[in-house]
Amino acid sequence: MCGIVGYVGSGDAVEVILEGLSKLEYRGYDSAGVALIQNGKIRIEKKSGKLNNLKNHLEENPILSQVGIGHTRWATHGEPTDINSHPHYSEDKSVAVVHNGIIENYISLKKDLQKKGYKFISDTDTEVIAHLFHFFYDGDMIDTLRKVLKEVRGSYAFGIVHEKHPNELLCARKDSPLVIGIGENQNFIASDVPALLKYTKNVYFLENGDYAKIIKDKIEIYDYEDKLVIRDKHEIKWTLDQATKGGYPHFMIKEIYEQPKTLEETLRRRIREDYSIDFNELLTKEELENIKDIYIIACGTAYHAGLQGEYAIEKIAKLRVDVEVASEFRYSDPFVDKNTLAIFVSQSGETLDTLLAMKECKKKGATTLAITNVVGSTISREADKVIYTMAGPEIAVASTKAYTNQVLTLFLFAIYLGDLKNSITMEEKILLLNELKSIPEKISEIFKYEDKIKFIAQELKDVNNGFFVGRGLDYKVALEGSLKMKEISYIHTEAFASGELKHGTIALIEKGIPVVVLATQKNLIEKSISNIKELKAREAKIITIAQKSDMELSEVSDRIIYIPDTLDITSGLLSVIPLQLLAYYTSLYKGIDVDKPRNLAKSVTVE
Ligand code: M6R
Repeated sequence: MCGIVGYVGSGDAVEVILEGLSKLEYRGYDSAGVALIQNGKIRIEKKSGKLNNLKNHLEENPILSQVGIGHTRWATHGEPTDINSHPHYSEDKSVAVVHNGIIENYISLKKDLQKKGYKFISDTDTEVIAHLFHFFYDGDMIDTLRKVLKEVRGSYAFGIVHEKHPNELLCARKDSPLVIGIGENQNFIASDVPALLKYTKNVYFLENGDYAKIIKDKIEIYDYEDKLVIRDKHEIKWTLDQATKGGYPHFMIKEIYEQPKTLEETLRRRIREDYSIDFNELLTKEELENIKDIYIIACGTAYHAGLQGEYAIEKIAKLRVDVEVASEFRYSDPFVDKNTLAIFVSQSGETLDTLLAMKECKKKGATTLAITNVVGSTISREADKVIYTMAGPEIAVASTKAYTNQVLTLFLFAIYLGDLKNSITMEEKILLLNELKSIPEKISEIFKYEDKIKFIAQELKDVNNGFFVGRGLDYKVALEGSLKMKEISYIHTEAFASGELKHGTIALIEKGIPVVVLATQKNLIEKSISNIKELKAREAKIITIAQKSDMELSEVSDRIIYIPDTLDITSGLLSVIPLQLLAYYTSLYKGIDVDKPRNLAKSVTVE
């Protein structure tokens, strides 16, 4: 999604803004631009395509400035052209605006402004902000911003500069992320922390509805009631190296390889010596007794993690769970009341669909729990309770280490609930926790089969269609394997419950079509073998993922990738690893931009 960077100080604004925007490239974008104040005038430069187009242009046409805003745009209203790129000017070029989000009432605002004589040159919703700011401008920046904010509906993060205020930068946020970076004699704004790490580790996370005036040595933040407020200063613990590739060719492969370490960190932080789970007294026994319904609500990969979480909570804590896609949840008139526990899983903590579903649940009185990776994110701050995953910054669009950390966290949460409910014995708990503790090492074992996975990826790179199938827990992992393959290799794949194939989809099976069969559940092996035989009879090419001791599967498979032996219930933490690698190498061999696949954004902050 769009990225915003802003700077006010005594340094080179162009350098800071371009550096910051390059750290936001992972969010996905199709054009980039800057607005800088130079000699009392605003100069906007913007280019469609990659950030390098803008960089090259600015090298040839340099701008000396110490105040400015920059933007990478992911098109929502209007084509990704130079004109629709941000920043946008007011008609007299006195104001420039960058915006992330959607102004829902922009059409009526635009009509009103047109009646007043304002002329629009782009198709964007953002241009109304520049004209509105011009219309309300009364000499006082914060007063003008306040009037603009009273007019707009929707989600937004803004950066605004005005030619008459060459030392000031304005910003505002609602339902879209924005952080203020605190420097020495210089301050910053950005959509995400990696954009700031080169310059500062101290930040303010703006609350929903906050807006601010920033000069180089002062930051004034106001809340949605227009009160001057003091927000907590956060120190970011990530290093720039953690947020960069560290020697790997892509973030995705770096993040796949980080999984043993990040999972170890989660285990170390959450499992106490007496085998109890440390979630900081998240729920009391009485609170749990009052809970009648549990929902897990999320999108994409986080939704798939939720499916494994559902399985774990039902099996371990013996509580019924519904997993819902966040974008559907709000419109399905769900059964939610004060006896509901609604769990929201989100890597970024900024996904608008998930956030809006959370707001709906809060309105209906539910207890909301966020499981998120980003400290200070909107979802973490809006939820009643929070569990942070320990995945570290995830930059690649395709989520990998966040997924396994979400699954592990949900498993630990299931054990935590099981303890509160006495639904798990000490022996069962020790067995399960010891197995979970062995997962990081077992993942490292799987990395040794990378050459075999590369070989299969070479075979897959030329196909147009494929299937991922599995039974029980394997089906839930198949869904994630299929999504991973689709989003970064652009191969059309679908995931099915193996037993469901014969009810229709088997019609699509023909000679040579690849079918990845997940067959890690020991009690279902025979059934899986029968399904494989049905597929083979139609000449599908079978790529099986199985536990090491289930050798019999090799006889019916064309290719087989083994994972180390594990408990059936924990197998999903291992079987997903070869699927991540398979997607990565298939994408690589197809020559696709693995970390930034087309049409996708890392943080999806529109509905
Ligand atoms: O930040 P979130 O976990 O809320 O994001 C949810 C999905 O947008 C995300 O998992 C998406 O499906 C990924 N591209 C999958 O790799």
